[in-house]
Amino acid sequence: MMNQFNEITNLAIKSAIEAGKILEEGFGTNFQIYSKEGRNNLVTEFDKKSENYIIDSILKIFPNHSILAEESGKSKSFNSDEILWVIDPLDGTVNFAHNLPIFSVSIAAVKNNEIISCIIYHPILKELFVAEKNNGSYLNNKKIQVSKSNNLESSFLVTGFPYDLEIQNSNYLDIFKNFVSMGIPVRRLGSAALDLAYVANGRFDGFWELNLKPWDVAAGILIVQEAGGTVTQFDGTTSGIYDNSILATNNHLHKSILKEINSIWISK
Ligand code: IPD
Ligand code: CA
Ligand code: CA
Repeated sequence: MMNQFNEITNLAIKSAIEAGKILEEGFGTNFQIYSKEGRNNLVTEFDKKSENYIIDSILKIFPNHSILAEESGKSKSFNSDEILWVIDPLDGTVNFAHNLPIFSVSIAAVKNNEIISCIIYHPILKELFVAEKNNGSYLNNKKIQVSKSNNLESSFLVTGFPYDLEIQNSNYLDIFKNFVSMGIPVRRLGSAALDLAYVANGRFDGFWELNLKPWDVAAGILIVQEAGGTVTQFDGTTSGIYDNSILATNNHLHKSILKEINSIWISK
């Protein structure tokens, strides 16, 4: 199954599947939950177990590579000539903590500021999304494409709401309200990585969110792009892993969704 990919991608796949087993074993059990930076930003012992497993499995093979991981931060011996692995060991922790089976493992390899390969894995559904720069995006080894929808009124969208109360109290929620009041179904799944993966395989036509972190979006950006989608910031410029806003679409609807967002959102 893994032969069509290079050794970096294969390592990401192998570590994500094993980390997924760790999450699956923990899911629904009586585990420890801690709060970090605000009451609803949670972390469990399984975020840490999954992350430790992924980091160890990468550094065992590539000890000179650098790591940027949600729970342990950036590796001290950061080497800019080598690959930077951007890791979210459990995206959708709040879901996981409440026994809701919507969460994923997200891993991206970045070289010279370019995302070169990545995976997003949903361990409960056994859905493995993989992308390599210039080699397309795949779900369980089958090539995927974004949706063909070009009519905003009949589109299907997904978003996320930052835990940061300052944003909740801004007019950010009016973007959501605007789409809902147009009669457009909008979902909030609670895993930005899955939101992006599902734009890539056409389940959703578009996804927007603010204030995400590099580990939330690094893998998803490449998976959407390699599936033919477009990813920008709210101002229309290309979105990198460190940017503050993200809109990922099937490309056909990009301009019209951007227009709706910008008719409401004024960034501070
Ligand atoms: C969160 C999820 C969620 C998004 C939050 C993220 P976590 O990541 O991606 O969808 O709305 O902003 O922090 O904390 O579950 O890894
Ligand atoms: Ca995350
Ligand atoms: Ca996480």
